[in-house]
Amino acid sequence: MSTTPGPAPAPDLFTWEFASDPYPAYAWLREHAPVHRTTLPSGVEAWLVTRYADARQALADQRLSKNPVHHVEPGKTGIPGERSAGLMTHLLNIDPPDHTRLRRLVSKAFTPRRVAEFTPRVQELTDRLIDSFVERGSADLIHEFAFPLPIYAICDLLGVPAEDQDDFRDWAGMMIRHGGGPRGGVARSVKKMRGYLAELIHRKREGLRQEGADDLISGLIKASDHGEHLTENEAAAMAFILLFAGFETTVNLIGNGVYQLLRHPEERARLQASLAAGETGLLETGVEELLRYDGPVEMATWRYATRALTIGGQEIPAGDPVLVVLAAADRDPERFEGPDTLDLARRDNQHLGYGHGIHYCLGAPLARLEGQTALATLLTRLPDLRLAADPAELRWRGGLIMRGLRTLPVEFSPSV
Ligand code: HEM
Repeated sequence: MSTTPGPAPAPDLFTWEFASDPYPAYAWLREHAPVHRTTLPSGVEAWLVTRYADARQALADQRLSKNPVHHVEPGKTGIPGERSAGLMTHLLNIDPPDHTRLRRLVSKAFTPRRVAEFTPRVQELTDRLIDSFVERGSADLIHEFAFPLPIYAICDLLGVPAEDQDDFRDWAGMMIRHGGGPRGGVARSVKKMRGYLAELIHRKREGLRQEGADDLISGLIKASDHGEHLTENEAAAMAFILLFAGFETTVNLIGNGVYQLLRHPEERARLQASLAAGETGLLETGVEELLRYDGPVEMATWRYATRALTIGGQEIPAGDPVLVVLAAADRDPERFEGPDTLDLARRDNQHLGYGHGIHYCLGAPLARLEGQTALATLLTRLPDLRLAADPAELRWRGGLIMRGLRTLPVEFSPSV
């Protein structure tokens, strides 16, 4: 028998072990098969791009289309139910020039100023959620905190009336619980949401004739009425993608962020001390570092080769799907010093957690606001917050695009 050790065998992807800690497998891929063809759990064949330089280049490569018509097997990828609900024409499914037009339009309504004005509301929502469990001394931070916060925040921003927001909470809950599971339930929720949004857009269009409203959907309608064309379908698809893209991502930013802080007591103590001193610098760099270290979006959304092309020396045939693995790129030692160390003060941190290029996250300012408010308020109001479960027993949702915990049980000293 030979005693020379050969290269380690290729890791199994998409198992339970992989879902709880994909980083060793990504390190193997970066090193041995940086552009790797694999069969996804759905049976679709796709290329995984894992090195930072290749990932950044692929995200900006216009030969990689976002439009699923370019897939060799159209209909097999994307959000369950979006096709049957007529929601395909959204930013994450289209290319220029349609993408340029729609992105310009929504950017007029979804401005950094609108987000900044939203700061007190996000703080109020955060405090209200903490109030609901603070006396108990324990909570599941996913269900009681990370999950409701972004859904109420986006509903408020879009202008969904308060009395309808719990319906959204239920539909979104269905998507997050069953994202990787039974597609029927998700498709039904998408359909209900679609019906509701169409009616809301119609009502707001009528309402705008009488009174000025300052929510995002009204802003979209106004922008489209001033010369730029936005069909009813496009408006509904836009509202839908804002909800869809802004929801589970933020749940995971808060969930993964709190989890990693609890697992890194020195970093957490450093952040708590800086917050107690009234500083915000470490909170700002810290949230970016948490996005790099264990970000919500494991893989960027689908891309398809419109023609044969080469990434990282590997030829990709036309029609093949390409998944850029942001979580792998953001741990690449060629780009980040000590990539497996969580350093909340990291400065040289051009991570890909929000993507790159023309599809760069539109909601990044809102995500930052929610992430920073949630973490700062939790650590300040519940200073002795601790995990109430063995990390090895925590379950991660096994979806493809997102990375996040199913539950996050915590304990703390109760207060009133
Ligand atoms: C796009 C991440 C929160 C709205 C993206 C992309 C990423 C991303 C990686 C690019 C996808 C690709 O190129 O395939 C995140 C993360 C978030 C977050 C990590 C939270 C921490 C939000 C929020 C909203 C939002 C709160 C809105 C309310 C969007 C939209 C796009 C997008 C509309 C599509 C932009 C385009 O195609 O032009 N996001 N996102 N995101 N995000 Fe976010």
